Amino acid sequence: MGSLEDLPLRPELRGRTPYGAPQVPARYRLNTNENPHPLPDELLVDLGAALGHAALDLNRYPDRDAVALRADLAAYLSRTSGEAVEPAQVWAANGSNEVLQQVLQAFGGADRTALGFTPSYSMHPLISAGTGTAWVDGHRRADFTIDAVAAAAQVREVAPDVVFVTSPNNPTGTAVALETITDIYDASSGVVVVDEAYAEFARAGTPSALTLLPGRPRLVVSRTMSKAFGMAGLRLGYLAADPAVVDALQLVRLPYHLSSLTQAAACAALAHTDALLATVDAVKAQRDRIVETLPSIGLTSVPSDANFVLFGRFGDASAAWQALLDHGVLVRDVGLPGWLRVTAGTAAETDAFLTALGEVARDHRTSLGD
Ligand SMILES: Cc1ncc(COP(=O)(O)O)c(C=O)c1O
Repeated sequence: MGSLEDLPLRPELRGRTPYGAPQVPARYRLNTNENPHPLPDELLVDLGAALGHAALDLNRYPDRDAVALRADLAAYLSRTSGEAVEPAQVWAANGSNEVLQQVLQAFGGADRTALGFTPSYSMHPLISAGTGTAWVDGHRRADFTIDAVAAAAQVREVAPDVVFVTSPNNPTGTAVALETITDIYDASSGVVVVDEAYAEFARAGTPSALTLLPGRPRLVVSRTMSKAFGMAGLRLGYLAADPAVVDALQLVRLPYHLSSLTQAAACAALAHTDALLATVDAVKAQRDRIVETLPSIGLTSVPSDANFVLFGRFGDASAAWQALLDHGVLVRDVGLPGWLRVTAGTAAETDAFLTALGEVARDHRTSLGD
């Protein structure tokens, strides 16, 4: 077998490692921010029927423009945000990762720059590299919030072609105020992507950037069915933006990128939106329980509007990660010194996590305030 070193690989990809949380066997897997609740029975029945129906036409290519699905997604966004979103404003692909890749294919690329406020979702710089787009780290405060004035100044200075604002942010859970997003938008002449993969878990009073779309033709809001909808295996992500942005993405998307089975399954799932999202409150309750319990074991967390919590602080986060794994609980070491990230699971999973953490915290925590 040959080696990567010997291949004529693009220089900017040399030495990189593929994205992915370690898929380590563990009794409690709380490392990839999935929704732990199984799909409702009535949806499983409808999914079977919808897939069976779509299978009858599998000799044909799918609807290239996913018209029915985009109408269902627009209806969902309009209903939940209070902002009228038209099907022509919506675009869907295989996970929001593919949506973001298409955005970078259209608006990034050679001699272009993307900027995102780190620490944030590590795929943003990776997809940038994959599309030949230069990457610049945007600054956050020590508490992981974004300083609107400093962010706008940095955006003005760097003049990126694409700006990523992740709200709620992964891995910190931090929501970004709408005024901060508008300040960044006003400072930029590029496309501003608000990655709202976790929007449905936001606490009351945290509005979506969907409300900012009117009059902002360079604003893009991306969403996914992988998190709150509990359908990570479906691979369905989408965005809302000005229809001209959707036209631009159609220049770079592969023809027939979204299979008829995916489109049919997503439409069937969206018909059960209320039942699917019924688990969101249960997940939020476990998230808030984790946050409230941490101080009693000498640990702290970052305020979270997502379905996970960044918790610490540890003298050696990797050692604490291993100690939790030794107790059967797999969390995510996101590479932030002193911090680990845990997904809010079921009540039983949270019990197991908090019990294990109680046992390992004494040996690994720093004293609060360090
Ligand atoms: C902030 C953020 N955006 C996008 C994604 C990608 O989601 P998907 O491709 O499953 O839609 C994730 C997944 O973890 C994420 O954390």
